[in-house]
Amino acid sequence: MARASRFSQCALLVLAYILLQVNHSEQLQSSQAQTLLRIQGLLNNPTVLSSWNITTEFCNTEPTSSLTVVCYEESITQLHIVGNKRAPTLPLSFSMDSFVTTLVKLPDLKVLRLVSLGLWGPLSGKISRLSSLEILNMSSNFLNGSVPQELSILTSLQTLILDENMLAGRVPDWLGSLPILAVLSLRNNMFNGTLPDSFSYLENLRVLALSNNHFYGEVPDFSGLTYLQVLDLENNALGPQFPKVGKKLVTMILSKNKFRSAIPAEVSSYYQLQRLDLSSNRFVGPFPQALLSLPSITYLNIADNKLTGKLFDDLSCNPELGFVDLSSNLLTGQLPDCLLAGSKNRVVLYARNCLAAGNENQHPLSFCQNEALAVGILPLQKKQKQVSKAVLALSIIGGIIGGISLFVIAFLLVRRTKSKQTMKKTPTRVIQENASTGYTSKFLSDARYISQTMKLGALGLPAYRTFSLEELEEATNNFDTSAFMGEGSKGQMYRGRLKNGTFIAIRCLKMKKSHSTRNFMHHIELISKLRHCHLVSALGHCFECYFDDSSVSRIFLIFEYVPNGTLRSWISEGHAWQSLTWTQRISAAIGVARGIQFLHTGIVPGVFSNNLKITDILLDQNLVAKISSYNLPLLAENAEKVGHVTPYSGSINPTNSARGKLEDKIDIYDFGLILLEIIVGRPLKSRKEVDLLKNQLQAVITADESARRSMVDPAVNKACLDESLKTMMEVCVRCLLKNPAERPSVEDVLWNLQFAAQVQDAWHSQSSEGSPISPPWPSHQHLSFH
Ligand SMILES: *[C@@H]1O[C@H](CO)[C@@H](O)[C@H](O)[C@H]1NC(C)=O
Ligand SMILES: *[C@@H]1O[C@H](CO)[C@@H](O)[C@H](O)[C@H]1NC(C)=O
Ligand SMILES: *[C@@H]1O[C@H](CO)[C@@H](O)[C@H](O)[C@H]1NC(C)=O
Ligand SMILES: *[C@@H]1O[C@H](CO)[C@@H](O)[C@H](O)[C@H]1NC(C)=O
Repeated sequence: MARASRFSQCALLVLAYILLQVNHSEQLQSSQAQTLLRIQGLLNNPTVLSSWNITTEFCNTEPTSSLTVVCYEESITQLHIVGNKRAPTLPLSFSMDSFVTTLVKLPDLKVLRLVSLGLWGPLSGKISRLSSLEILNMSSNFLNGSVPQELSILTSLQTLILDENMLAGRVPDWLGSLPILAVLSLRNNMFNGTLPDSFSYLENLRVLALSNNHFYGEVPDFSGLTYLQVLDLENNALGPQFPKVGKKLVTMILSKNKFRSAIPAEVSSYYQLQRLDLSSNRFVGPFPQALLSLPSITYLNIADNKLTGKLFDDLSCNPELGFVDLSSNLLTGQLPDCLLAGSKNRVVLYARNCLAAGNENQHPLSFCQNEALAVGILPLQKKQKQVSKAVLALSIIGGIIGGISLFVIAFLLVRRTKSKQTMKKTPTRVIQENASTGYTSKFLSDARYISQTMKLGALGLPAYRTFSLEELEEATNNFDTSAFMGEGSKGQMYRGRLKNGTFIAIRCLKMKKSHSTRNFMHHIELISKLRHCHLVSALGHCFECYFDDSSVSRIFLIFEYVPNGTLRSWISEGHAWQSLTWTQRISAAIGVARGIQFLHTGIVPGVFSNNLKITDILLDQNLVAKISSYNLPLLAENAEKVGHVTPYSGSINPTNSARGKLEDKIDIYDFGLILLEIIVGRPLKSRKEVDLLKNQLQAVITADESARRSMVDPAVNKACLDESLKTMMEVCVRCLLKNPAERPSVEDVLWNLQFAAQVQDAWHSQSSEGSPISPPWPSHQHLSFH
């Protein structure tokens, strides 16, 4: 009974506290609320905004795919309004200039998405007053005129998307000087002129999409854009030379342009290439057959060109290849068996060549030979005799075509030996996957992902990104021993310092099995979401690949560096001056519980069975507790033994039938162990000792106050309120129960810890004890890992 009434009193207390917090964090300056209502009016009250009125609490509304307002410290940082597709133009009374003038009264906007709203007229240069702008997406409107010069001062701009408008004229040179531009998308407009050479300097560019405009002339040299993954130039008048691009390209679309060159040999070494569309140009020369077996390729379209060469039935193809269009070229020989076999869902088109394939309409061989001559391929004089197959082929067709296939074979041979040589020189590392492979193009253009990271910016962490190996080498002085922090079953840990001064912790995982980077995509996506103020959060990753098959040799995971040692070092290893006060211990416990709650419920799928240990809880400069070692599937898969059952962790065998429903309770047990050490103030050496202490705690909970105090760490036993202590002991005992089903949920744990904090706090402010002395920072730095 007493317990029940105490709980209801405290429930009120906690509720009031929570409400206060909520209200505090989500208030919006009233001037900004008025601005939003003005915007509603200027947009002619579109349906998507019909829920807005004078009473709306803008910062508290649930974000949807068409309407999102995000606030940070009473100011709007993100505004997404997406109207109906094919929205008509706004009435003649609309003025783009006054609309933008209103918009810039939201000065902290970082992300602005105004899609399909019928906006018309030239984009006003005043938009550059939004100096924090990082993402601007104004697709599917009726913007006309040119891109205003003033945008050039938006140096934080990472993403500029103006697809499906009526913008015209040349693309300005200064776009190439936006320092961190990563996505530039101007699809479906009426731009013309040549592409500015300054694009060669957009070194952070990942996506360049300019399809369906009227661009002409040569494509600038993009070979220095090491992060470029998506190049979409479809349906312009560009050419005639094949564009120079970096090797990290994932998607390359050149269809419907005026390219007339040969396809350069290095295209066959674009190991990340998934989608290649060269259709409807006039590419000439040999079709590089190695394209069919590129390790990542899934879509290959070379239709409607003048590509030559003899295909063999035993060519190899990437099994993932889902679409191949070879139609309307000058190919001879056999359609490769690997294209016919395999998946039923694969589409293979090859009409209008000179292939010896029965059913689809093919030209006679002479047609392709004559045409090939007509496009001016010089016949190679054949001297080689070493490849019997090639010789046979030569004697059959002779001349031109055979020469070409010999060329292809010779090229393959050269490539083989070349890669073998490099292999010998440096047995593991040749290509390093420095920047890009973590993201597919879909991943990049997924606005939700980007805005999610933006929100997390509030954590004070930089956005998740890929690191280059050079950067990590520089940060660790080439992985010098002085940067080495230790090694465990889940890889080696290094400490490093980035150019900008930030300290980082790097976990280096050597891959045991050979996988392509694509196999790691979902792991990387999960890791990139593991960001929370009570986790040692991931800042990014870096792949290192083998040259020969481009499988991943090592993965580096980069984490924030947490400088203040382990929770244990502040409790049971601490010198008296360094010991946490009771209040600080409770907040550390709350922090750990919040971290666990996030791991279980904050991401999908949840991360369970984290084998939490007090030595894996780190404290930052403000003594905020952060979990440093959690159960990343990537780590578990690669570790010697999967799963982890420590001598006294209470872990259930993962194959046990209790798995699933109760997997969250394993972490609760481990949390109980941490709580126990927090209370008694010394490390526990065995399962036996834990059980003994648990029983003692259980006994003293109902005994008198002095009995309880006798069990508490002497460093804090005078400063803790009995009520608070009793609550902590109760939670601890329940977390350590043998039967997982009887252990409390993480929410229950949190509720009780917060209660313990509340009563302790209330008592503190009454008593004259004053605030606890804040301890000096320890001089040693320590970071643990497992
Ligand atoms: C404002 O909108 C809400 C629903 O969105 C509605 O319940 C409320 O009556 C409206 N208030 C006014 C003053 O129009
Ligand atoms: C933009 O479109 C409007 C309305 O169609 C037209 O009056 C105006 O002249 C256009 N401006 C430019 C720069 O093309
Ligand atoms: C490019 O577009 C602008 C504006 O539409 C037009 O005035 C100009 O003539 C065009 N230039 C060329 C070469 O097509
Ligand atoms: C930009 O808006 C378009 C249209 O809604 C959408 O498809 C695209 O994903 C958006 N991109 C970003 C990065 O917000």
